[in-house]
Amino acid sequence: MISARTPGAPIGVYDSGVGGLSVLRHIRAQLPAEDLIYFADSGHAPYGEKTEQYVVDRALLVAAFLLERGIKALVVACNTATVAAIKAVRARYPDLPVVGVEPGLKPAAAATRSGKVGVLATARTLKGEKFLQLREQISAATKAEFLLQPCIGLVDQIELGDLETPAIAALLEQYVAPLLDQGADTLVLGCTHYPFVQTGIERVLRAHGHQDVTLIDTGDAVARQLGRLLDGAGLLHPAPEAGQPSASLHGYTTADVGALAPAFANLLGLHPKVEKVVV
Ligand code: DGL
Repeated sequence: MISARTPGAPIGVYDSGVGGLSVLRHIRAQLPAEDLIYFADSGHAPYGEKTEQYVVDRALLVAAFLLERGIKALVVACNTATVAAIKAVRARYPDLPVVGVEPGLKPAAAATRSGKVGVLATARTLKGEKFLQLREQISAATKAEFLLQPCIGLVDQIELGDLETPAIAALLEQYVAPLLDQGADTLVLGCTHYPFVQTGIERVLRAHGHQDVTLIDTGDAVARQLGRLLDGAGLLHPAPEAGQPSASLHGYTTADVGALAPAFANLLGLHPKVEKVVV
């Protein structure tokens, strides 16, 4: 049963795992009155190495689960799910405001001086028709050259929770260094997990004498777009009055709670209630 959408209802934020927390932090900062439900599909991650149909099926199941919990809007805080499945989610729920994330090719094309932009993303994102169309469009309009780098295995490592491991450092070196060698002066973080290893990426940049490379993350822009959409639909949560409880945050995961709860604590310093669910 889908409840009526009202300004007081929560917003669903969904990712294949903990990566969407890098978007959720911008939503909390920009829209502090909003109640949020975070869904980590960690039991089925990584999406980036699955088929497109698998990701579509998961996205529809998760959207249905969140609608049963009364969400007024959905943020698909996952590049892979946005590229593969946002069309299907919008077609299934035409009245639901849905915001997706896509690799920030447009801001990257505006930022590059060398004309070469490295795009770090999952293999599935970089193969998706929606992404390839975006690349065509932006390179035709700006003449920027996009160097595509699938980062196989990086999401699995970030999901494990420790961001300062030799395995992560080795993967970042393997994926970032060739882009620098090819002249990229701008790197797009095209997966919502990657902002959590930004320090490691910056370490690779420094090691190669390229600390002036610009990193592009669209979490902030996604939160702004969500605010605009809610405002336009008359769905912004009214600011709480004095004495009223502050906005709520609830987490669901399809893997062990022992992965999502520490991620909230370590990545964002938050301690919401987290439940394991079968979806
Ligand atoms: N955070 C997801 C994204 O933005 C990761 C996808 C995956 O699970 O591979 O693409």
